[in-house]
Amino acid sequence: MQISQSLFRVMEAYAEEYKVPIIRKAGAKVLTGLIAGCKPLAVLEIGAAIGYSALKMLENMPADGKITAIELDPERIAVARQFVAKAGAAARLELIAGDAGKIITELRGPYDFIFIDAAKGQYLDYFRKLEGKLAVGAVIAADNILFRGFVESGQAPPRRYRTIVMRLRQYLEYVNTHPAFSTTVRQDGDGIAISYYRGTTCE
Ligand SMILES: C[S@@+](CC[C@H](N)C(=O)[O-])C[C@H]1O[C@@H](n2cnc3c(N)ncnc32)[C@H](O)[C@@H]1O
Repeated sequence: MQISQSLFRVMEAYAEEYKVPIIRKAGAKVLTGLIAGCKPLAVLEIGAAIGYSALKMLENMPADGKITAIELDPERIAVARQFVAKAGAAARLELIAGDAGKIITELRGPYDFIFIDAAKGQYLDYFRKLEGKLAVGAVIAADNILFRGFVESGQAPPRRYRTIVMRLRQYLEYVNTHPAFSTTVRQDGDGIAISYYRGTTCE
């Protein structure tokens, strides 16, 4: 689907002005490359913010593909709804307001592609809850997995980041040792872990 590039520029300016964390350019390139290569029809995004990465994904998906995106912050999801409407994408991008940890237990799936980009400490919880909702060959991409370089650094992170870094390490340990997944970590942006579920054709 064609989405006006000027709309993306407006979203980037909004994110900058209101300090909304959106995917970095390098990470977006990896994400859209994955989407273009894997051609998922059913995508789930955890942590939509103002809808920027969701629209980037939609732009690269097959014409009959759909996205479900979850966002906790009421103000952000309200803005996301406006941008999605402006893009003419409301019929293909469903935004759900609320806590992803709870909402994903109520979703049925199956999903071909999942983008995890919400509470860093909850990634492993999201992943475990979604394991039974994957289509054969699904891909799960988790953003910020290297968290400013602290996750793979041998040094202790600052105290305020200790729990996040510990949890992201636990996520990586889990996906790296899971027999049904093959995982690679891309260094682009803030790091993206890409886990390919068994039967994948887009690795
Ligand atoms: C990094 S931002 C997402 C950016 C977006 N994916 C993009 O690149 O355009 C993370 C978002 O996750 C949301 N979030 C945090 N905890 C959440 C939760 N438990 N459930 C749903 N969303 C959550 C935050 O409000 C925030 O907007």
